Amino acid sequence: MNQSRLDSQPEVRPATPDDHVGIDRVIRDAFGAEDPSEGGKVATLWPDVHASGHVLAESVVVRDGRVVGHVGVSRCWIDARRSLVDAAVLSPLSTAPDYQGQGIGTALVAAAVAAAGTLGGPALFLEGSPAFYGSRGFVRSSKHGLEAPSPRAPDAAFQVVLFDAFEEWMRGRVVYPEVWWRHDAVGLRDPDLAFLEDLFARTFPPID
Ligand SMILES: CC(C)(COP(=O)(O)OP(=O)(O)OC[C@H]1O[C@@H](n2cnc3c(N)ncnc32)[C@H](O)[C@@H]1OP(=O)(O)O)[C@@H](O)C(=O)NCCC(=O)NCCS
Repeated sequence: MNQSRLDSQPEVRPATPDDHVGIDRVIRDAFGAEDPSEGGKVATLWPDVHASGHVLAESVVVRDGRVVGHVGVSRCWIDARRSLVDAAVLSPLSTAPDYQGQGIGTALVAAAVAAAGTLGGPALFLEGSPAFYGSRGFVRSSKHGLEAPSPRAPDAAFQVVLFDAFEEWMRGRVVYPEVWWRHDAVGLRDPDLAFLEDLFARTFPPID
């Protein structure tokens, strides 16, 4: 484990309106580390999720006056047979490239789970690496009869944390607000989709 992770626990606090320029920057830097257009895509999505009124919680890590970590939690629904159920989705999660590997992402995930847990909803979903999130409390959603909002979200990548409010009947497809579709930010598209499906088929085989 990285020594600096052992030295201090990152301090996570709720975001304020003054953080928004720094949040935009850290999202661009984190997601654009390899592909600047990808960073720009996620950074333009997040203000639109705000504008759509769906943000439920947002936390940051600040070092020397700079936002170096950010996580957003926003609204989604479970399309259950009995009714449409309010739930939450964790995205995006960003750590500035020069601060990665120090436990900031882990602390932000824990803060997002804690924040979502106080909302009274049954579940917090996300699309992401099973290696990263699987060791941080998330399990494959399909295991609980909760379907991804698109078949383009690989089964192993669509994950969930369930809260006490979850009841057995709350099963069905997860629905994301329109803003995610407007930004084409649901699931993946080829060639990334084909690459990850192949990787997951070898690393995270399907559950019976
Ligand atoms: C993923 C991310 C938030 C992790 O932040 P971090 O502050 O470095 O996280 P931590 O220091 O708490 O943990 C580091 C762990 O993340 C893992 N990690 C880093 N990038 C990863 C990736 N793209 N996929 C999976 N795991 C990743 C490291 O291997 C390390 O694993 P370990 O704890 O088993 O050793 C950060 O790498 C990032 O911002 N990446 C770009 C944006 C992104 O991909 N966000 C997540 C989208 S679902």
